[in-house]
Amino acid sequence: MTGEFVRQRMTGYDSGHDWWHIERVRKVAEYINEQESLADPFILEMAVLMHDTADSKFANDNSEEAYKVIEEFIVKAGLTMIKDQLMEVIRNVSFSNKNPSGNLKDPVLLILQDADRIDAIGAIGIARAFNYGGFRNNAIYIPPDQSGMNVKSTIGHFYDKLLKLKDMINTTTGRRIAVERHSFLEKYLEQFYKEWEFGTR
Ligand code: ADP
Ligand code: NI
Repeated sequence: MTGEFVRQRMTGYDSGHDWWHIERVRKVAEYINEQESLADPFILEMAVLMHDTADSKFANDNSEEAYKVIEEFIVKAGLTMIKDQLMEVIRNVSFSNKNPSGNLKDPVLLILQDADRIDAIGAIGIARAFNYGGFRNNAIYIPPDQSGMNVKSTIGHFYDKLLKLKDMINTTTGRRIAVERHSFLEKYLEQFYKEWEFGTR
């Protein structure tokens, strides 16, 4: 039932944000929690399933409206007793949420945040970034001497966000996974520049 709700809410998102993102985050979150036993597995799973159903990039910035839909769903699904916790986690999970509030140390939030960030790095993170960049029609790369103030490239996004994620991980297990994927980002960039500068170095 929850899976159905989530699939339906996420129709129309870019494919780096699709149901498979939820599946991947679920696996990583479950693994972290198995290693560290920090959170209630059911609440964690529900939070993972719902965490991207109110993304402002896709809900036309009307996220309050989207939050209301999620709340109604939680009640309908008979999960009223965990509604407040789930809503707080969902509101706080996003990297781009600049106004976090409430229990920022909730282990459900910490693990979900880790798993979500881990899915943004490594080979899959790279695939998602270029996919999102394509969705926005951004350039893959703009050399420093040619980049204007407001022009975004996907390689630029590596520096704006992806390379910072490894140092934003909450759990020990998450950090171990993130470190490995981070080093793959660095290797990728090295090869990218080598190819970009073909013949000049
Ligand atoms: P959050 O869950 O914190 O809102 P986003 O929704 O911003 O995270 O990011 C989701 C995915 O889209 C990530 O893999 C991220 O790297 C990618 N992404 C977001 N913004 C950009 C961008 N400007 N260029 C390339 N990829 C992006
Ligand atoms: Ni996500």
